[in-house]
Amino acid sequence: MDKKKILVTGGLGFIGSHTVVELQTAGFDVVIVDDLSNTSITVLKSITAITGIQPEFTQLDLRIKKDVTAFFNNHTIDGLIHFAAFKAVGESVQNPLDYYENNLTSLVYLLQELKERKLDHFIFSSSCTVYGQADQLPITENAPIKPAESPYGNTKQIGEEIINDSCNAYGINAIALRYFNPIGGHESIEIGELPLGVPQNLIPFITQTAAGIREELSVFGDDYPTVDGTAVRDYIHVVDLAKAHIAALERLLNKKNDTAFECYNVGTGTGTSVLEVIKAFEKVSGKTLNYKIVDRRAGDITAAYADTTLANKALQWKTTHTLEEALLSAWQWQLKQG
Ligand code: WQD
Repeated sequence: MDKKKILVTGGLGFIGSHTVVELQTAGFDVVIVDDLSNTSITVLKSITAITGIQPEFTQLDLRIKKDVTAFFNNHTIDGLIHFAAFKAVGESVQNPLDYYENNLTSLVYLLQELKERKLDHFIFSSSCTVYGQADQLPITENAPIKPAESPYGNTKQIGEEIINDSCNAYGINAIALRYFNPIGGHESIEIGELPLGVPQNLIPFITQTAAGIREELSVFGDDYPTVDGTAVRDYIHVVDLAKAHIAALERLLNKKNDTAFECYNVGTGTGTSVLEVIKAFEKVSGKTLNYKIVDRRAGDITAAYADTTLANKALQWKTTHTLEEALLSAWQWQLKQG
């Protein structure tokens, strides 16, 4: 039987590349589009080194409608996983219009192609940031969507609404996966997180500090109402996250979805504080991390971790990696960067 062909936008990025590996391993044909604004073409070679199959690749700026249409004129696809977006919370506050243009225009253009060509099976990269600071923990999918803390988070909230309306109007079937905090890298150490410039996220900053690239880690606040005063997050191994995309895609391909648009939390279900992460990292790396406590970072929430009941049941998926395994994979990836 012919392999189903899946378009992966942003497929050379951190989560995208890990998902491409899992798609190929699951027997799908993959075509990647990426504008290379936040990654490197070398990731294509790395993916091929892992799976032995070089995915088809087209460099494409999804903000240019005629190029998006031209791409779909030349490709027949069975499903689409949409990662391509700007994703730095702080940067989005500085450049909101860049975020609204890039993250929302590209989504609208993709959905217009799906509508015109009666294409189906759309997986959207969403985020736990849609919840803001949830009133109850762990966070379930029906927790109220709060006003976004940043333009980035707003693009995810608006994105979900655009998809919901499109599914209801045009018969598209879609699933949004609300990621918690993706970390780590593939066991092959061929792919991992490639933060360009000064890392915004905790784990790459920790590994770069341990590697001597950064002087010391600033811990943003130790006066939160948590176990040790530092903020709590749900850190999920990126390979576990990637596998959730395969599970979601297969749910749509097998027409198992209950409604045209479904949302699932993708996390471990466990919350870990910054100081607990530091301790776990020191344990797996054997390094003593140089850090200091500073003021809270604007826009940060106290705590977020997932209720994964729905995803476990509907996607028949759950995480298999521990926090320590994820942190060790991040460290091994850092060491390989030299
Ligand atoms: C984690 C914790 C910081 C850096 C991210 C993405 C967001 C979404 C959820 C996908 C916080 C603390 C960080 C540092 C620190 N994912 N920290 N020192 O803010 O939870 O959001 O995951 O959509 O897009 O940005 O992740 O890694 O920035 O911070 O103390 O140098 O680590 O305060 O408590 P965050 P993060």
